[in-house]
Amino acid sequence: MSLAVLVSGTGSILDAMVEAGLPITLVVSDRPCPAMEKAAGHDVEAVVVCRDSFDDDFDRDGYTLRLTDLLEERGVTLVAMAGFGTVLGQPVYDRYAGRILNTHPALLPAYPGWHAVADTLADGATVSGCTVHRATLEVDSGPILAQETVPVLPDDDEASLHERIKVVERRLYVDTIRSILAGEPPVEAVAPEGASA
Ligand code: GRF
Repeated sequence: MSLAVLVSGTGSILDAMVEAGLPITLVVSDRPCPAMEKAAGHDVEAVVVCRDSFDDDFDRDGYTLRLTDLLEERGVTLVAMAGFGTVLGQPVYDRYAGRILNTHPALLPAYPGWHAVADTLADGATVSGCTVHRATLEVDSGPILAQETVPVLPDDDEASLHERIKVVERRLYVDTIRSILAGEPPVEAVAPEGASA
């Protein structure tokens, strides 16, 4: 299998994947970002498939086609989103059905969306965590592969809670991908206790 990682942010999960020895052949971002500098430092091919718009006129399917063509050209067989900031359209799910993974900083189905950590805190939840799942066209709602809880501490702010969740994501995502690469697809997980919207 040939693994591509899609990034837009700081790339700390990408770092953990590289350090764990996952066979990453390509890193793709939708914008210049620190994660791309990290990829360059790891000597992995890194390509920016730049979004031409962040407004209503964004051609989502056109963008998705450009990105999907690149994945196919490079022989990618498994795609891992790690903080990727563009919601992809149908073309990638047609051609990579069931082979796109995502990690999310909350216990899905609770707190989907971009502001999961802030929403968790705003809600006064005492337990959060992370979810590794197969990505589908509908954001943050594909089959769950692994989840792990993280306590919310009384003095947590968004940055401190997110960082503690990411510590777990860096391990759980790597372990899940490793299992898939080894041909041991993880069983769809049951949400752990405390996971409620
Ligand atoms: C992670 O929390 C991931 O779940 C979310 O974006 C974050 C990426 O972190 N989608 P980093 O850029 O790898 O540090």
